[in-house]
Amino acid sequence: MKVYKLGVIGDPIEHSLSPKIHNFFAKRANINIDYNAYHVLPQDLNSFIKDFFKSGGDGLNVTLPHKVSCLNSAVSTSSLVTIIGAANTLEYIKSSKKIIAESTDGRGLVDDLLEKFNLRSANILILGAGGAALSIIPDLERLLPANIVLDNRSKEKIQPIIERFSPFLHNTKIVNIDNFSDAIDLVINATSAGFSGPFQWGRELNLNKTTIFYDLSYTNSKEKTPFLEWASQYSDNYHDGFGMLINQAALSFRLWTGIKPDTKILKYELFND
Ligand code: ATR
Repeated sequence: MKVYKLGVIGDPIEHSLSPKIHNFFAKRANINIDYNAYHVLPQDLNSFIKDFFKSGGDGLNVTLPHKVSCLNSAVSTSSLVTIIGAANTLEYIKSSKKIIAESTDGRGLVDDLLEKFNLRSANILILGAGGAALSIIPDLERLLPANIVLDNRSKEKIQPIIERFSPFLHNTKIVNIDNFSDAIDLVINATSAGFSGPFQWGRELNLNKTTIFYDLSYTNSKEKTPFLEWASQYSDNYHDGFGMLINQAALSFRLWTGIKPDTKILKYELFND
């Protein structure tokens, strides 16, 4: 029986949950994988990727700080990766010996949101304008929202993002929060604010009683992330990014193995296993 040779690369990498998640998927799908976490320094990135695939590798997940620089090792990128300029998954096509870069973060988020809510015609606010924000923008259109609204601590980063993504959004508008006054239905935290100390936001947001809050970050316990602690003063409808984590992994797994894995994994199963 084939053993898929897989892994995740990052710096640091010790805390990655990817090996556990993929082993869960494999067990339930009844296939064999050899999935390891590899600590790869930036200067070793290209040679590591090339050697991994040359020596029989089937697929790699890529995490910080390599999501942009890994594109230099790929022969081709998906159209989504070309738009966002970053990838989290590398696939090896053995017949042509090609390394292909793909991004499953945005799709994983949207799969999780679709399971939880109906966001048709919604106004979705993204807080943040870094790599995490960029990686989710194109996929959000699949939810059929009316508007994607952007806010960021450094205001000058907002307009370039709007100009960059507008041509790829056909049924959804992407707007600067300065030009938007309607109520927000979903707030997505794509910042690293709150990583040290409580989360705060430097502007009053136009929320209502039904506004949903979603953090791309997650905790390994029942404790709230700092963003969700802040959100809980406005609403009981808040969610961390655990569902996105599982769904983006499932999309990578499917890309490498052709199998759509069972994504029903609870936090406690992963953390107490
Ligand atoms: P990532 O790749 O995880 O998105 P990043 O590219 O460094 O990381 O982006 C971090 C994001 O968090 C940015 O939007 C940053 O705002 P600035 O563009 O103003 O730097 C945001 N951020 C980080 N710390 C913040 C804080 N204390 N308050 C508000 N926003 C913060």
